[in-house]
Amino acid sequence: MNAPPDPAGRLAGEIAAPPTDHTDAPEPSQILFGTQEPPPFPELNIFPIEWETETPKLIELYDKSRDPGWSPNRLPWETLKAEDFTADQRYAIAYWFTLLSVFDSSGPAVFARAMIHTYETHEEDPLRKCFFSVTRDEVNHEEICQRAITTLTPGGPLRNTPETALGKLAQNNAKWYYHNGARYWEGFKNGIGRYPLPILFTSFLMGELAAATLFHGMHQRTTIPVFKEAFRCVGQDEARHMGICMTVLRKLLPALEEAQKATITKQLRAGYVFLSGILYEPPDQFWELPATFRPAHRLLEEKAREAGLGILSDEERRENWRGAVLKMKGVLEKYGIAFPAIPEIGVDGETVAFDPDDIIPVF
Ligand SMILES: [Fe+2]
Ligand SMILES: [Fe+2]
Repeated sequence: MNAPPDPAGRLAGEIAAPPTDHTDAPEPSQILFGTQEPPPFPELNIFPIEWETETPKLIELYDKSRDPGWSPNRLPWETLKAEDFTADQRYAIAYWFTLLSVFDSSGPAVFARAMIHTYETHEEDPLRKCFFSVTRDEVNHEEICQRAITTLTPGGPLRNTPETALGKLAQNNAKWYYHNGARYWEGFKNGIGRYPLPILFTSFLMGELAAATLFHGMHQRTTIPVFKEAFRCVGQDEARHMGICMTVLRKLLPALEEAQKATITKQLRAGYVFLSGILYEPPDQFWELPATFRPAHRLLEEKAREAGLGILSDEERRENWRGAVLKMKGVLEKYGIAFPAIPEIGVDGETVAFDPDDIIPVF
């Protein structure tokens, strides 16, 4: 009888020692002789990745933003109790945060998209990092909206079932705002690749200025403790975002071409129209709203004000918006950029056409 096959033994028998006669080690210069360059990198690709710094000030700003000094989960949310408010007050406060969320809760996606763009266009490293920090901040701002809405109207804004007429109006208005937010997102996605950096940044600055103005005013006015602290912290972040925009613009604006200046003028008007949706009142341009929207909006704002949210009066908001816009006008006119007329808040300037596709500001 034959012995059973022993494959392991057979394989072991075939083991051969590796050759040990490496007498001539490969010469790097000899290998180098045979190298080839890869094909050119495709345009608007994130590779190659490098770490250039052109604006050291942006490193400073990024370093300051590494720790924003606050966090939404450490705010005193336990002091916000749904039962301290009437049903209509709860609907009204949640409603206002829903409107805010069109601006602030779109922030994470909007800035993440912008951050990817800075990689695709090979912007300097600290600028990419600044966009990362703004994206992180916007996630925090979104959480403020989220916590306010879901504490006061669980499942809100759209999956809560309102029990009063005002609550139903709030929900209908919210849907219309989201409808317009969806249109903004479509425009923003296309605009980000279409416009050069100086134009994008001027629009960004307008949004950040609007945000800083809004939160500063509401921080002073609100009587609800958790919101007082939230508005202070968010306002601080927005001021930092403004600083980033200004630093970039100081570098870009002196080298603008005439055609770019004209585009910026148009962009500023578009920014006013979009941002007025939260800062003042939504103008007819851009905002597609039904006839019931404005009267319901006024009632809801009045109710939220009565509940202590800190919504300023129309006159105060008009003045704040005007002050912020004039500040921006002062900055840009130095660089020979004409400011658009904004008769709604008494700012004169050039009359410009409005195109809803121009809307790219961020909060
Ligand atoms: Fe911001
Ligand atoms: Fe924000």
